[in-house]
Amino acid sequence: MFGLTAAAPPVFVCTFVALLVSLFLNIWLLINNFKFALNDLDAGPATAATNDGLIKRSELPQGWWTDSMLFQAERRAIFSKTWICVSHRSRFVKPGDYVSHEIAGFRFFLILGKDNTVRAFHNVCRHRAFPVTEKASGSSTILGCKYHGWCYNTQGQLTKAPHFDDVSGFDRSQNSLFEIHTKVNEYGFLQINLDGSKEAGESQLPDTKKIGKPAGINYGSQFLHSWELKGNFNWKLTVNDEYQNGNKTSKAASGAFRVFHTQDLTPADQLYFFPLTTVYTKSGSTLWYQLTYSPDSPQQTNVRCDVYSARKSDAAVFEGTIKDNLEAEIKAKIQKYEATYGTLTSSNCNPSDSSYDQARIADAVTAHLEQEKIEGREIKPATVQQCRSEAFTKAEKLCQALECTSDTLAW
Ligand code: FES
Repeated sequence: MFGLTAAAPPVFVCTFVALLVSLFLNIWLLINNFKFALNDLDAGPATAATNDGLIKRSELPQGWWTDSMLFQAERRAIFSKTWICVSHRSRFVKPGDYVSHEIAGFRFFLILGKDNTVRAFHNVCRHRAFPVTEKASGSSTILGCKYHGWCYNTQGQLTKAPHFDDVSGFDRSQNSLFEIHTKVNEYGFLQINLDGSKEAGESQLPDTKKIGKPAGINYGSQFLHSWELKGNFNWKLTVNDEYQNGNKTSKAASGAFRVFHTQDLTPADQLYFFPLTTVYTKSGSTLWYQLTYSPDSPQQTNVRCDVYSARKSDAAVFEGTIKDNLEAEIKAKIQKYEATYGTLTSSNCNPSDSSYDQARIADAVTAHLEQEKIEGREIKPATVQQCRSEAFTKAEKLCQALECTSDTLAW
């Protein structure tokens, strides 16, 4: 009894110390895993290149292709804080030229300002969050929200707010559109980052992955044509697929690679922007085009094709056979993805060549979810905050009262 009592304190102390060490070790590992995963995501193509883009990941998480909770996590972990290539500078010629897009439910538009700068804004009116632009593209130096007439200039500043302008204390400058970080790379490609933090805006664009020798892309290209199609497949199927296909030099290369000359079966040269965009060029051709895959849901992806030319005279050349071929080949590409998606979802398996980029996505989502667990809340980097002043509330009451007596509501 005496012996037991004398030995007991060191045992408890040792157990306590061991528990403490184990706790600190776990916390350290958790923090560092998170850091590594984020670095991995930011590292982009440079890291992918060192691994030849082919790191295997045999087991992707359950519901990788179909789960809507996972899709919501991807919205927060990938699309809300990654640089995404969405357009090209030469698409915007005169002040007021704008293009609207939607990626994973985030609506935004890009517009050329009078200062020759392209800016991106959330397509959300500061009054009651209706879309400011409803057309896919257009040109106007003043954008008027059709619902109650608020107007914004090309720099997103509120220039007119009916009913509100007369209310003392209402400050237009506090009600500009929400701007999105936008950068243009050396080839003229416009990339946005929906993460509203200052650090995100200061972060560097990832390197662009080159396949072959893409050429002929410059700031002075001419925009020729754009169209969109929907495909019933998960957006992640396209990630790395373009890269792998582009690396094949087989004469059997098919699909979009053939479009420039129907008899020429050699693969096109490419620029790949993780996670959604690939640009195709071809030696000897002045045409080039950009494919952007925008996820709508786990089961549906919007495919946008923007075609450009290095020469103005090519506009007529593109119409006709080349345009028809390109449309047909992109349709065929989508059908191929749909067939693969059907096989994957019916057999509940992962593709045998699960790539490094699939692993990057999985790691980034896992790290984001772990951080959310630590903070006990969902982390939504793209969320914007509407602040309502007293003057706003007062004017809004007036606006609502006028609506009630009006016969001509906008909606
Ligand atoms: S929602 Fe745009 S003016 Fe009211």
